[in-house]
Amino acid sequence: MRDLDDVLREALPASTTSAARRATESLRDTYRSGAPPRELAIADDERAAAYAAYRMPATRAAIARTLAELPEDVPPPRIHLDLGGGTGAAVWAVHARWPQVHSRVLDASAPALALGRRLALGSDDAGLAATTWEQVRLAAGVALPATDLTTVSYLLGELPAAVAGDVVDAALAASSTSVLVVEPGTPRGYAAVLAARDRALAAGWRIVAPCPHAGPCPLTAGDWCHAAVRLTRSSLHRRLKSGDLGHEDEKFSYLAVVAPGAGDMAGEPAGRVLRHPLTRKGLVQLRLCTPEGGVRDEIVSKRQGERYRRARETGWGDTFT
Ligand SMILES: C[S@@+](CC[C@H](N)C(=O)[O-])C[C@H]1O[C@@H](n2cnc3c(N)ncnc32)[C@H](O)[C@@H]1O
Repeated sequence: MRDLDDVLREALPASTTSAARRATESLRDTYRSGAPPRELAIADDERAAAYAAYRMPATRAAIARTLAELPEDVPPPRIHLDLGGGTGAAVWAVHARWPQVHSRVLDASAPALALGRRLALGSDDAGLAATTWEQVRLAAGVALPATDLTTVSYLLGELPAAVAGDVVDAALAASSTSVLVVEPGTPRGYAAVLAARDRALAAGWRIVAPCPHAGPCPLTAGDWCHAAVRLTRSSLHRRLKSGDLGHEDEKFSYLAVVAPGAGDMAGEPAGRVLRHPLTRKGLVQLRLCTPEGGVRDEIVSKRQGERYRRARETGWGDTFT
């Protein structure tokens, strides 16, 4: 599979013009407002190009990080459904792990789907190029075709709450093994993930990540569970964002759940690191969400040898036992 940044650079040669910058700024304003857009945000080819150039590498990275949480013993998917898949960020992440899977992208935006198809064809990857792109508006009472894995990335926040609930229920009903939900790492994104978590638990699904327990989220008001993934900014990306930084940190809230009976999920229960670990001379302090359903700060000292070495290598969003 060719690198997404290379494919984007070739497919979007005009995306550094001032019109492209304006489309990028307009999309950025829509997403930063924090409210669901009244109309489809990716409304034309220019915005589809702007979305692909400025958001897709980051959403792909967040989805890949979430996918990595699925245990090896969950059967590899044969069919992947990507809801509100836009230009196909999840398809690139899923095919990097399972090249044989057949992906179906459902989205309401024709320009996003058309560009997604073009990018997938540019990947030089037969599996990715065979993805099907279907214009579908997800609405209340939606029913979905049978699938193994479903990804729902950066979609729920664009939907009214009742529709988002129906989409999550439909994804759980349609999927034989796993459902991944990814949202921006904001209080609003976290709230959408929590609502999806309630529905998955009510349907008898098991949480793989990030929560190490199925009890109520122990975070108190004003705090929200999220993680971050660092990605290198391509030159195209730097020009569009008019910035010099060579990297960016995509903050995201997420949920990975598996269907009853899919994978045995054995293994020692591990806490989830909720913040960047604090390191002082000879000490590492980890804020953990625990398998018992609470939050605790653990201080690991150099005297603890191997455990200290592991703590030093542990990052925000990782597990720690
Ligand atoms: C922020 S983009 C996310 C795209 C992609 N999932 C990603 O992670 O990069 C949201 C996508 O949801 C789509 N969308 C919004 N409301 C929708 C609806 N009711 N039915 C289908 N797609 C919808 C938009 O067209 C857009 O492509």
